[in-house]
Amino acid sequence: MDGFALRVERLEVESAFDMLVKARALEAQGREVLHFEIGEPDFDTPSHIKEAGIKAIRDGLTGYCPPPGIPELREAIAEHVSETRGIEVKASNIVVTPGAKPIMFFSILACVEPGREVIYPDPGFPIYSSLVKFAGAVPRPIPLLEETGFSFDMDAFADSVSEKTCLVILNSPNNPTGGLVPGEDIQRIAELVADKRITILSDEIYRGMQYEGEPVSIATLPGMQEQTVILDGFSKLYAMTGWRLGYGVMNEELADHFSKLLVNSTSCTPAFTQMAGLEALSGPQDESEDMLRQFKSRRDLIVAGLNSIPGVSCHLPGGAFYAFPNVKSFGRSSSELEDYILQEAGVACLSGTGFGEHGEGYLRFSYASSEENIRKAIDRIKTALAKLSS
Ligand SMILES: Cc1ncc(COP(=O)(O)O)c(C=O)c1O
Repeated sequence: MDGFALRVERLEVESAFDMLVKARALEAQGREVLHFEIGEPDFDTPSHIKEAGIKAIRDGLTGYCPPPGIPELREAIAEHVSETRGIEVKASNIVVTPGAKPIMFFSILACVEPGREVIYPDPGFPIYSSLVKFAGAVPRPIPLLEETGFSFDMDAFADSVSEKTCLVILNSPNNPTGGLVPGEDIQRIAELVADKRITILSDEIYRGMQYEGEPVSIATLPGMQEQTVILDGFSKLYAMTGWRLGYGVMNEELADHFSKLLVNSTSCTPAFTQMAGLEALSGPQDESEDMLRQFKSRRDLIVAGLNSIPGVSCHLPGGAFYAFPNVKSFGRSSSELEDYILQEAGVACLSGTGFGEHGEGYLRFSYASSEENIRKAIDRIKTALAKLSS
């Protein structure tokens, strides 16, 4: 059918949702599938947060509210970001959005001109490259190297920065590898972009889920705060994926543009969801701390399990809830292995190529699954892969 703008043809999707459909189809035939494909905590939203949302609905917070967010939540986020990053952030620097994804969308709409270049990690969150192409910009994916814990190939990074660059996307801890951007690379990146008209989108959605060392935001480096949009939110750390609540931290001028983009798209984020977010930040943290402890112990379990499979090697990820094993020794493409493991072992995982061409040779396992399921999945994969080697 004619009549569509070309740009919609350039949009891509997340392979996790496609895999979920395939896995559900197998389940409908009576097969048991163990799910390691979707990037969402398997924990429920803590009950005090749910109650705050329900109370807000009962209190009548069911109408439109200010586009960039309700003042109490913007204040609380500003305080939280100031404390956790050690920089001075005001409520006027905060824009609240339905989920953190709109911060990605708005950063690209507001900062990227067609024909300019955007640097981002490969493998990386698939929506980065999709939106870059949607905006008519030129993708500059930078390989992440397994040998350095999936940090950037810094030579390729430095070679890619030019007067055409308008946006650099960083993501630490990273989806899909769980890798971190080391402090010295952040320093170098800051030097490369300093005094240039380049915006940095620092995707820190997994910041609270870093198991090793202290997270470093590029916004904390001298002069960088003005140039940086921090993306963060409630989906992962507070198990609130379906509530749709995220935010960006940026200079006031950009915050005004983001606010206008909100007026032109969703108008605002539901006020009752924002009240739940306020409770998440100001209420007890024990449930999310407990979730984090469980994720860390699952990480150790799944990484040891994957490394026990002949032909598989898995780097210990520093954060998030993803393991990204190397499966190159089987001589098959990642997407063939993704399919084989689903059909033969009844385990749903993702091909690394769903995250960029440098994901070839790897699989992504989201370990948002019980320890029992992790053990079962490892046993089944071991048996299935042994058949390939024999
Ligand atoms: C790297 C990364 N950034 C951002 C998001 C989006 O988060 P939200 O669900 O709050 O929109 C995700 C979700 O999977 C993610 O993996």
